[in-house]
Amino acid sequence: MTPEEFDIRRHFSILYEKIYSKPLVYLDNGATTQKPNCVLDKMRYIYEHLNSNVHRGVHYLSNQCTDLMEEARRVVARHLNAREDAEIIFTRGTTESINLLAFSFGETFCKEGDEIVVTEMEHHSNIVPWQMLCQRKGMTLRVLPILDNGDLDLAQLDTLLNERTKILCVTHVSNVLGTVNPVKDIVAKAHAKNIPVLVDGAQSVPHMAVDVQDIDCDFLAFSGHKVYAPTGIGVLYGKREYLDKMVPYHGGGEMIEKVSFSGTTYNVIPFKFEAGTPNYVGVIALAEALKFVDQIGFQYIEAHEQVLIQYTLGQLQKLVNVTIIGNPQKRSGAISFMIDNAHPYDVGMILDKSGVAVRTGHHCAQPLMERLGIPGTVRASFGIYNDKLDIDQFVKAVRVAANMLSK
Ligand code: ALA
Repeated sequence: MTPEEFDIRRHFSILYEKIYSKPLVYLDNGATTQKPNCVLDKMRYIYEHLNSNVHRGVHYLSNQCTDLMEEARRVVARHLNAREDAEIIFTRGTTESINLLAFSFGETFCKEGDEIVVTEMEHHSNIVPWQMLCQRKGMTLRVLPILDNGDLDLAQLDTLLNERTKILCVTHVSNVLGTVNPVKDIVAKAHAKNIPVLVDGAQSVPHMAVDVQDIDCDFLAFSGHKVYAPTGIGVLYGKREYLDKMVPYHGGGEMIEKVSFSGTTYNVIPFKFEAGTPNYVGVIALAEALKFVDQIGFQYIEAHEQVLIQYTLGQLQKLVNVTIIGNPQKRSGAISFMIDNAHPYDVGMILDKSGVAVRTGHHCAQPLMERLGIPGTVRASFGIYNDKLDIDQFVKAVRVAANMLSK
């Protein structure tokens, strides 16, 4: 079936909602995506027919749910092209994945005087956990700056990475500017100095084929809810050579091998990092979402979204009062803009009244806003179901906002 015959929009009931009697134009996919009916049906099916705790029971339902959860791990591993299923750890989302890593990697490999490198365009979730690690251990956080167009200033990477650097943490795609960072080259540069790399894949996994073996990153985090799966489920991919050595993050059931008051030994990966009852329904639904995306195929998704992005940029550039923020060499997922000096919230509210959902504000990237010298932006972010009609309704609403708010 071609993607056209597949008719992507028809799989998302919410897209037929009316907002203030207007068709919904959902352009806040960078914050969260809508869920296809197959994902919703899957969750309902589990709760109606199979619900039972995993990895614990000898009974039929528990075995069924456990099998589905471990099959889902295989789906995720295949989707990312991980070497083995055990390198896929389920978390609540990107934020928890990075907190897990900052704690477990930090406790295992870092000491006073060491350094962590992040970039100026990171989301708070790829800054604050590393800052907390630095505070705990007496380490230093170093920052790779951006250029004025919104690309990373990679010329500075060589001097920034040194023998004290313990890990480099970089986003694959900026949630604000849409910049696609050349993570494969960045990883190669870091590896030349024996420095491992975490890639924040929250804004790339929904938009492109991400192959962790090709990139050769040591860790990659992403969230299910940004890739058409439910909230509360995410992934930390990590190479076994690191995960095997890292101390656990949370203690509790399932992450142990043997517990006694004289001491506890830990389970093997991935279970060592999955204390407590996992969100097995979320895990199974995540696999369903990834299968849905794979059925459409990233060749189509990337091409479709690029057409929409270029079309949107072209339309916005025609509006004299609109300034696009950032002009990266390669863009995916998002366009940020401002209307003269109008506050982004005011723009967002006018768009909302036209049925258009966008995100406004600092997008959890305050250091980036500081660098750009702006309080925030209006951000349109794209998903597989958006089409040119969406963009036309959006641009019309931006024009109304520009007329109302421009000086
Ligand atoms: N990180 C999400 C965003 O960029 C919530 O909107």
